[in-house]
Amino acid sequence: MARKKVNFECVECGYVSPGWLGRCPQCETWGSLHEVDVEKAGKSRQRRGASGGKAAPLASISVEEADRLNSTIQEFDRVLGGGLVRGSCILVAGDPGIGKSTLLLQASSALEEKGHSVLYVSGEESERQVKMRARRLGVRGDILYFLSETNVEAITGVMEKLDPKMVVVDSIQTLFTDFAQGVPGSVSQVRESSALLINHAKVRGIPLLLVGHVTKEGAIAGPKLLEHMVDVVLYFEGDKGHQYRILRSVKNRFGSVSEVGIFEMKEDGLKEIPDPSGVFSGRNHGEIPGMVVYPALHGSRTIMIEVQALVAKTYLPVPRRVVVGLDLSRSQILSTIVEKHCGVKLFSSDIYLNVAGGFKIDETGSDLAVVLAILSGVREVPVPQNMTAFGEVGLGGEVRGVQLPAQRIGEAARMGFSRILVPDTQHASSHRGVNGVELVPVRNVRKLSEMLG
Ligand code: TYD
Ligand code: MG
Repeated sequence: MARKKVNFECVECGYVSPGWLGRCPQCETWGSLHEVDVEKAGKSRQRRGASGGKAAPLASISVEEADRLNSTIQEFDRVLGGGLVRGSCILVAGDPGIGKSTLLLQASSALEEKGHSVLYVSGEESERQVKMRARRLGVRGDILYFLSETNVEAITGVMEKLDPKMVVVDSIQTLFTDFAQGVPGSVSQVRESSALLINHAKVRGIPLLLVGHVTKEGAIAGPKLLEHMVDVVLYFEGDKGHQYRILRSVKNRFGSVSEVGIFEMKEDGLKEIPDPSGVFSGRNHGEIPGMVVYPALHGSRTIMIEVQALVAKTYLPVPRRVVVGLDLSRSQILSTIVEKHCGVKLFSSDIYLNVAGGFKIDETGSDLAVVLAILSGVREVPVPQNMTAFGEVGLGGEVRGVQLPAQRIGEAARMGFSRILVPDTQHASSHRGVNGVELVPVRNVRKLSEMLG
């Protein structure tokens, strides 16, 4: 009798080895290699193939105009690039308890209200739990079907019978298929389960929303491959202590990435915040040293966000640099620039930087605002409430131009800021069309100290 052919696969990263190893050489996890039956694992791959082996000229393929489904939750649709594309797969990832199930149930309900049937599959919660949430959210539930199931074959069976216009699966880590080995949540199970579901959704032309858990480090649990398999990856984040939630797209085959949607978690579900500048600029706290509001670019829009710096005497041999919502290395560079070019001593000070409302800033346009916040914090001089700033700061202390200056100025002006510090190089070009706003060109951070007064 021929011996069964087996491989060993790492449940953490999917590394495959012909022999057993105590430690995965790829991700260095101990005891993560498990036996995989090669023949059985190969079967599911053979099953796939929607084309029937035929290629078609691109010109002959027709695409309907209204190939997107709008959920009427505008913040959600915008992050998706203008609604749900038929046959696409969207992965929604986030920490436990952040509101992923709530968001997707609300999106399902919105589609139901528009007359589309939806299948909501949960492998995590029972009918009663979901019903309780649905009642809280005011979901009608006439053509919104619920299925408590973890077997992929059973789910695709129901999809065939019901023929819904959208499918939600909460969460991909709870599913298992007969065509893969390992426990639910393992690399091979997540990979095969999602491949089967994605394939099924593509063939039927319906959008598939998958909930994905994240690991302690904040990455989507399961194979990295999952992110390549889906069309859109959304992160739902926010401070659990805060009521604000931010939906961010990090991959989108049908729209721009770095687009954000902003929600507030209320008693009766997530509410959209169409005008986030008012919420995040926190201008009703009065003038406080170390606080600067700056026009941040998020995808296609600009949001006024508050950056805070607290500078205090240190009691440690190495002063602390603690950063929340900004990049740590960049913040360290900026505090050194302040020390070097603005003539203030920071070696005996702890610096704490924070972005209000649980927002995350990942652009260099915030540099000037961070420098201003640190300066204002050290000198204990508040930045005037009508003042805002944007621009990148180089190592020489020079202020450089950033993307979309006119849009930032427009938003700042709309929110009532009348004195805007702009990079010198962009001063002339962005001057047109703003009334009642004083644009102050800044060439170098050296001048900043004087401007603070
Ligand atoms: P949930 O959607 O279950 O999170 P996830 O699926 O990401 O784990 O939401 C969990 C939290 O949201 C929970 O702590 C309760 C809170 N919540 C509200 O504040 N209001 C609501 O209307 C709902 C449904 C939940
Ligand atoms: Mg959930």
